[in-house]
Amino acid sequence: MAAHKLLLLPGDGIGPEVMAEVQRLIDWLNAQGIAHFETEHGLVGGAAYDAHKASISEDTMAKAKAADAVIFGAVGGPKWDSVPYEARPEAGLLRLRKELGMFANLRPAVCYPALADASSLKREVVEGLDIMIVRELTGGVYFGEPKTITDLGNGQKRAIDTQVYDTYEIERIARVAFDLARKRRNKLTSMEKRNVMKSGVLWNEVVTQVHAREYRDVQLEHQLADSGGMNLVKSPKQFDVIVTDNLFGDMLSDEAAMATGSLGMLPSASLGAPDAHGRRRALYEPVHGSAPDIAGKGIANPIATIASFAMCLRYSFDLGDAAGRIERAIADVLDQGLRTADIKQEGCRTVGTREMGEAILAALDRQA
Ligand code: IPM
Ligand code: MG
Repeated sequence: MAAHKLLLLPGDGIGPEVMAEVQRLIDWLNAQGIAHFETEHGLVGGAAYDAHKASISEDTMAKAKAADAVIFGAVGGPKWDSVPYEARPEAGLLRLRKELGMFANLRPAVCYPALADASSLKREVVEGLDIMIVRELTGGVYFGEPKTITDLGNGQKRAIDTQVYDTYEIERIARVAFDLARKRRNKLTSMEKRNVMKSGVLWNEVVTQVHAREYRDVQLEHQLADSGGMNLVKSPKQFDVIVTDNLFGDMLSDEAAMATGSLGMLPSASLGAPDAHGRRRALYEPVHGSAPDIAGKGIANPIATIASFAMCLRYSFDLGDAAGRIERAIADVLDQGLRTADIKQEGCRTVGTREMGEAILAALDRQA
């Protein structure tokens, strides 16, 4: 069996705790002979800054480029609030996304039946929800130049961020989204702000052209990102796949997360373009952050990171069966009434990170 090379970057805060549960899952898959993973570890974010004054080292970047996939925990925390902007923890993640060319960020928002009451939205609004947000990840205002703060000399400063998109960037993310829609319920909603932004005008135009040229069989609709956001909390089940830019995708995916019960449930995949062998650079990470307030307490929810690893099996290694088994194991454990603190519920048992990880492994063992 060919070895799959994984780089694990736990990062800061609860990152190491949730990553430990993924490591146990990897060991389990190896022991079962389902796959043969070789893992390496590296520092990123504040942890990397503490070790070598940069949010990711050249050595770790090289390891990420050599790996078949990167599994990422979370970065950031108040400890690093005053480090230089270029070395802030988030810069390590942004550098990975940009230098590995991972322009397509897939953020599924699925409401497990057992959690429909954990959402801040009504059960009937979220029960059975299964949507996919496709966020452009290497362009837009995150990376556009100029990006500056200048002193105007009159007691005023001027801050500039630049939102910029080229046709090819919109085309390639649109194709990823249309392809996904074809494998799902065949509906794509594109979101932008064409009523105030030139980048929104171009976004709308290019998505419309790609649809007319290559994906006429998929149902396409356009929504302005503000009312799209409203629709996400009003009637999220109207959506199948949503495609949007980097900044709107950042916001809309956090919003969609709450429909599922907790940010602690949401996985994500960041993918590059396929090479000549069909392989894509890939990074998998939970949508939640480093949660410094609960770090080190052993109470963080590991499900988003475990589900991200399931996405890794599916998208990087074509191990869809194993991915499905892990997703079923997560659903089983929730059905049994086990909850971490973020999704705790009356009549259910609140467990810690380790116990949740162990319960998912036990559920996998029962399936075998
Ligand atoms: C996310 C995060 C990141 C982002 C931060 C940590 C830079 O919020 O992945 O959604 O803004 O993209
Ligand atoms: Mg975010």
